Amino acid sequence: MKFSFPQSVRLMEVGPRDGLQNERLIVDTMNKIGFIEGLVASGLKRIEVTAFVNPKWIPPLADQVEVAKGIRRQKGVSYAALVPNMKGYEQALATKMDEVAFVLAASDTHNLKNINAKTDEAFARYTEVALRAAEDNVPFRAYISCAFGCPYEGEVAVSRVVHLAQLFTQLGAYEVSIGDTIGIGNPKQTLELVQAICKEIALDKIALHLHDTRGMALANIFAALSLGVKSFDSSAGGLGGCPYAPGASGNVSTEDLVYMLHAMDIKTEVNLDLLCGVSLKMEKLLKRQLPSKVLSTKRVVS
Ligand code: HMG
Ligand code: MG
Repeated sequence: MKFSFPQSVRLMEVGPRDGLQNERLIVDTMNKIGFIEGLVASGLKRIEVTAFVNPKWIPPLADQVEVAKGIRRQKGVSYAALVPNMKGYEQALATKMDEVAFVLAASDTHNLKNINAKTDEAFARYTEVALRAAEDNVPFRAYISCAFGCPYEGEVAVSRVVHLAQLFTQLGAYEVSIGDTIGIGNPKQTLELVQAICKEIALDKIALHLHDTRGMALANIFAALSLGVKSFDSSAGGLGGCPYAPGASGNVSTEDLVYMLHAMDIKTEVNLDLLCGVSLKMEKLLKRQLPSKVLSTKRVVS
């Protein structure tokens, strides 16, 4: 029997944004910059470095401008930032981000809690931002969060996720990142959701953003790979969570994902040893062991 998986995949490293937004200890600006530069040195080519959101809502990322300005940029790397509205977009533009990301949940309650707007109102804001981004030639992607379930509303209709994916691609998103914000999905659900979305939009516009709360993320990625999905978000060491999604833990760890992909002969440009070194430094700063399994094989036992 022959299996067919993609030969290579695109990664979006979200550790500096999704990861650090939800850590108990706040990492200082210089160490954030060092972390991002280390991630780039390990071969990661797309990095979400911060979020231009209200610092009152997300205090750990309050130094977003300093971080964005402080990074020594490397050619061939796309530096991304999350923006929830025009104000955030303008800051991303002023700090020369290569691309931006919008976030919209497939649930009204989560949108109210996370970005203080109902779904339709927030989409109208993003439409304005997308038009500006098109004028400025700034590519954007869109997270559809709570796509596998919502911490407030429970089950989320597949049709709602598909509809938002269509709206964002029509608006010009180069990719929609389907978010399992609370890590509640399973491989069967992943197959069904991806199949439903790719009936309406091209497969190469679909990415997955999977929090690993229940240890399902790699199994879900395997399911998506078997359908030909080629783009995944992940977080160094498995850092992260969403402060407005109770119980959400970190994203799938970049180390565990890269290990699995390389073992399956699927190429990434990441040097796993270098990446582990960067995450080990970060866990020292955070004074806690990060959840990545591969990282646990690299700790020096004293
Ligand atoms: P709001 O209070 O409705 O905003 O917040 P507003 O427009 O009414 O303005 C109120 C104040 O906020 C004003 O300041 C604005 O200037 C300021 P004041 O006059 O009171 O001094 N403001 C801003 N400040 C900085 N940056 C901005 C900005 N916009 C307005 N961009 C807002 C609306 C969206 C700003 C707020 O709700 C917010 O910042 N939310 C951020 C939430 C967030 O970052 N959540 C975590 C990321 S999402 C996630 O993790 C999920 C994801 O990973 C996918 C997945 O896991 O599935 C992406
Ligand atoms: Mg997330």
